Amino acid sequence: MTFLGIDIGTSGTKTLAIDATGKILTSDVQEYPCYAPKPLWSEQNPDDWWDATVKTVRNVIKKARLKPGEVKAIGLSGQMHGSVFLDKNDKVIRRAILWNDQRTVTECQEIEQSVGGRESLIQLVANPALTGFTAPKILWLRNNEPKHFDKLRKVLLPKDEIRRRLTGEYATEVSDASGMLLLDITRRNWSTQLLSALQLDRDLLGKVYESEDVTGQLTPKAAELLGLTTDCLVVGGAGDCAAGAIGNGIVNEGILSTSIGTSGVMFVYSDEVKIDPLGRVHTFCHAVRGKWHLMGVNLSSGGSLQWFRNALCPELVAEAKKKKVEVYDLLTAEAEKTLPGSDGLYFLPYLSGERTPHADPFARGCFIGLTLVHGRGHLVRSIMEGVTYSMRDSLEIFQGLDIPIKQIRASGGGSKSPFWRQIQADVFGQRVVTINSEEGPALGVALLAAVGAGAFKNIQEACNAVIKVVKETKPSTKAKKVYDNCMPVYQKLYCSLKDDFKKI
Ligand code: XUL
Repeated sequence: MTFLGIDIGTSGTKTLAIDATGKILTSDVQEYPCYAPKPLWSEQNPDDWWDATVKTVRNVIKKARLKPGEVKAIGLSGQMHGSVFLDKNDKVIRRAILWNDQRTVTECQEIEQSVGGRESLIQLVANPALTGFTAPKILWLRNNEPKHFDKLRKVLLPKDEIRRRLTGEYATEVSDASGMLLLDITRRNWSTQLLSALQLDRDLLGKVYESEDVTGQLTPKAAELLGLTTDCLVVGGAGDCAAGAIGNGIVNEGILSTSIGTSGVMFVYSDEVKIDPLGRVHTFCHAVRGKWHLMGVNLSSGGSLQWFRNALCPELVAEAKKKKVEVYDLLTAEAEKTLPGSDGLYFLPYLSGERTPHADPFARGCFIGLTLVHGRGHLVRSIMEGVTYSMRDSLEIFQGLDIPIKQIRASGGGSKSPFWRQIQADVFGQRVVTINSEEGPALGVALLAAVGAGAFKNIQEACNAVIKVVKETKPSTKAKKVYDNCMPVYQKLYCSLKDDFKKI
């Protein structure tokens, strides 16, 4: 018995295969472009996701030498919040608008006003209107491309569009649906009240399942294209944040995961619905049946360091290529020569605006405190510190909501660096551990597929079988003290600059 996890990411699609014990057999990735037709817009073509899905599944089958009937179930994960607009013939009406697109400032205000303000909206769907979420994108289509809106019959999330092409079903599951801003998070189904306030038809949306539930089987056409059989099940799966958390074993109370990818995610499990009345962190349904999670999202996390590398270090990129080493290792070696606190240099990681804790599309990135003493190593350290302070912002909000946090698990590309893990332990003032797998969302949904097909009793049992803590980084008392002093300065800088950001 084999199970596949397919993750429709922003930079590419990854497919991963596991056996019935949860052991990873192989994986494959195919990349595709992202389009920015205007500043702060971000779009992709759903056909690219589909082509990458077909290719990666076929490659995985070939690499692991699987027979068609061996794959019993597929789990789907993907970038959250994106909008796939379909007409009555299931044709894609325009390119999908993605999670990191900031065009919907006006529509967010419209949504809040339509229900009598931000607080009422938080009561209905547990979250405020954020530019990246899906509902404002639907309103944007209505306000700005009325001809397209007239043709609109269904709105699906990225992974759910792939589900439609696999199974013919219009369906979603609770974790990803939470990020549409149309789900009643407590009841785990669409909010009819909000839909009617926004004058949106309930039929625009798919049927909502729990993440491990079976949502359909492969159509004959999809089975043939992928080299699989029509009895292969497709389970709900999860948005990439919840799926990544499952892949990190965040399935019990007291465990929090940090993830440093392009965006950064602080993700904590919760047995109950707990909502930040100020709407600074998101409360979403978890991919664990009947449970929830809270999450803080930083839009430019590892992306900040990537920007620095691309914009300011072309000669180092060339040197790394020549020496056949990672350019990030060269940058880290320079940063390691500097001291915690970067000699008074601060970096605000708001290169794409920000979500947590300041839902502010106008926020901008900055280095503050530069002096003649600062070199490239300081700049690199201050970026890592600034990104980690922004993660501590979320941690402090979770703590303020009395969410128990006994263990912090670091994941994502940025956390592969022992240096950045040490900064995390020092800034959080807590031990940070890593686990035996770096597969993230694709593994998470492969495990959900295995649960859906009955290979495990529940997702906790599946995670216990597969995920183990392997390393631990302890905080240094000295560095923690430095960061405890820096944190309030970092937090104040945004407040001081907020109005200027708007003018900029
Ligand atoms: C989560 C979010 C991002 C995307 C990226 O709310 O917007 O993490 O899911 O893939």
